[in-house]
Amino acid sequence: MSTSSEYDYLIKIVLIGDSGVGKTNLLTRFTRNEFNIESKSTIGVEFATKSMKMKDKHLKIQIWDTAGQERYRAITSAYYRGATGALLVYDITKYDTFKNLEAWFSELQENTEDDPLIMLVGNKFDLQNKRTVEIDEGKTFSKENNLLFIETSALDSTNVEMAFHNVIEKIF
Ligand code: GTP
Repeated sequence: MSTSSEYDYLIKIVLIGDSGVGKTNLLTRFTRNEFNIESKSTIGVEFATKSMKMKDKHLKIQIWDTAGQERYRAITSAYYRGATGALLVYDITKYDTFKNLEAWFSELQENTEDDPLIMLVGNKFDLQNKRTVEIDEGKTFSKENNLLFIETSALDSTNVEMAFHNVIEKIF
């Protein structure tokens, strides 16, 4: 966390996970309450900020979003630098995105110094009928790796606010 005159604390949160799991839409849902059904793959890095007040302090939350696709990815070290929190996202309807969590988690650990607070996020909760990753599998992975865990839907807003809030609260 760093400070400035406009806010008491700046909190940097990074979004990671495979392409198509919904990182960009989680970001836009949280920062602008928007969802895009036809959102294109992120190229490079984007970020958005949101100001909020917690325990009488002004927080500036900076959320970074990068491409899940290797070929569109920006320099990793810069992306992770200074991150105090991370959302490690998979798609509950695509088992591969869950299997790849291990690799994302390793990359995160290799590129961050002060252990960031990590929330495991099973996104697309609205697609229950297409679920291929059971909730218990998410729970187990989170327990084994000491992560927080939640299932969300960027489409219908389920738990999106909660996912970010829980991370911010724990960091702050
Ligand atoms: P990259 O930028 O390629 O890494 O992808 P991403 O992880 O940012 O995924 P993105 O937010 O672009 O979403 C991919 C697709 O999934 C889009 O068609 C979204 O509309 C859709 N999507 C995202 N979140 C949800 C969700 O919660 N439910 C459903 N049904 N679709 C979602």
